[in-house]
Amino acid sequence: MYNGAHNFINEAIPYQAKVADPLYLVPSLPQGQPEFKQAYLILQRLFPTAELSNIQTTVFLQAWQGKTYQQIAQSTGYDADYIKDVGHKLWRKLSELLGESLSKHNFCSILRRRYQQMEDAELGLDASKASGVRSFQSHKSKKGGEVSRQVCDWGEAAAVPVFVGRQFVMTQLKRWIIEDHNRLIGIFGLGGVGKTALAVKCVEQVESFFDCIIWRSLRDQPNFDALMTDLLGSIGGQGIELPETAQEKVTLLISYLDQHRCLLVLDDWFSVLAGNQLAGSYHVGCETYGLLLRRISESRHKSCVLITSREQPAGLAFTDNEAFPSRTLYLDGLDQDSGREALKSFGLECSDECSDLLLQRYTGNPQALRVAVKTIVDFFAGNVPQFLEREELIYGDIKRLLHQQFARLSELERSIMNSLANREAPGSLADIAAAGDISLDQNDLLLDALESLHRRSFIWKNNGRISVPQLLQEYLKVSQKIGQT
Ligand SMILES: Nc1ncnc2c1ncn2[C@@H]1O[C@H](COP(=O)(O)OP(=O)(O)O)[C@@H](O)[C@H]1O
Ligand SMILES: [Mg+2]
Repeated sequence: MYNGAHNFINEAIPYQAKVADPLYLVPSLPQGQPEFKQAYLILQRLFPTAELSNIQTTVFLQAWQGKTYQQIAQSTGYDADYIKDVGHKLWRKLSELLGESLSKHNFCSILRRRYQQMEDAELGLDASKASGVRSFQSHKSKKGGEVSRQVCDWGEAAAVPVFVGRQFVMTQLKRWIIEDHNRLIGIFGLGGVGKTALAVKCVEQVESFFDCIIWRSLRDQPNFDALMTDLLGSIGGQGIELPETAQEKVTLLISYLDQHRCLLVLDDWFSVLAGNQLAGSYHVGCETYGLLLRRISESRHKSCVLITSREQPAGLAFTDNEAFPSRTLYLDGLDQDSGREALKSFGLECSDECSDLLLQRYTGNPQALRVAVKTIVDFFAGNVPQFLEREELIYGDIKRLLHQQFARLSELERSIMNSLANREAPGSLADIAAAGDISLDQNDLLLDALESLHRRSFIWKNNGRISVPQLLQEYLKVSQKIGQT
């Protein structure tokens, strides 16, 4: 059964350790915000006084992953009837504490909603904004260099009519922006995973905290000077006198970001990064973009710059360090609950089992799911098993999208990806070196390449083991067949 983006359960963990410490089930925490850790945090935040036993906590966490009582019994070594009884008592106890009826079937979605409401209330956010209706129309700032009213310039930001799930990361992002005053935040993840949609929804919800909202896409690789002129004009007004050099323009922008509380979103940052080499370096001629990010993260100002990118740019510490308050969010696919909801909203009526199969094969990537749903509805009369019988699940727009990303890999990265293809279990460093016929004296190159693949969200690292998301496995299957990788 699909259980969100990662599978954390290490089946080799001894029984005693599992039951004694539920979080021991997560031997190390992979990138991003693992679903499992989120569940634990939500449990602690919503039920600080619940005092659950270890077995109750274990049932809660495994049920959150969509496991049946039978499966939980197997993984813990307890009798299935006993686990069922623990579950029933647990839902009753939590329902009483929450004042809302919970069951194994509905508890995930109810607790996510309640958690988001609690966090929004703490951050002073208006809950009605959570539905994300843009509250005011775009307009440019008036002339004269002073922003005396709210400027909201969404540029060509996409409308996001359907948006499901993401409560946890959304809450985290809002906290980073509103409460922690981070100057630079990066949302990274594979194409189609939902970075832009998340950023749009987030900005809609926090806009009232800012004097100025500006959204720009770098998809067409704008000339740096033109972008700076545009940004300075948007914040300062069209009549301002512009300095000559790029450095001076950046300095002026930073001073605006200090005078006014701005939320500046730069979408598709990867467009200014170079391909065919390790991830993160800038295209020749685009190095000043790197300078801009560094200045934004290192200079004092009261604004927030949010970038989305398929690759994390190099030369920049997205640290949790107080001196340079910047944060990184690696976005994975939709989890089981939200994925099922997304499939419905894309127009697919099918059983939970069928939804889970699709979510697993496409690693919960909403763009890939959208493409698949259209085909399933148009050509398979909604029959998911029949669609999944096909070997090749990567085609059309999603194939083009993944192809663009694979085309950016260096030689070594490509050979690592090929060596990781079709692996059932995550591999160790030695496995990868052996499978890719990479000699050990190239070990540092191997580490650089793995780090780079991680920056592209091509691999997951967990407890010294490396795995490839199923979506990319599916792509590799197709492209190896036609000799494209
Ligand atoms: N949480 C979500 N719920 C429903 N649809 C989503 C969600 N996130 C993304 N999508 C849809 O998936 C597609 C890809 O999302 P997008 O944000 O453009 O991905 P990215 O920016 O990571 O490439 C879009 O059609 C978007 O509307
Ligand atoms: Mg995008």
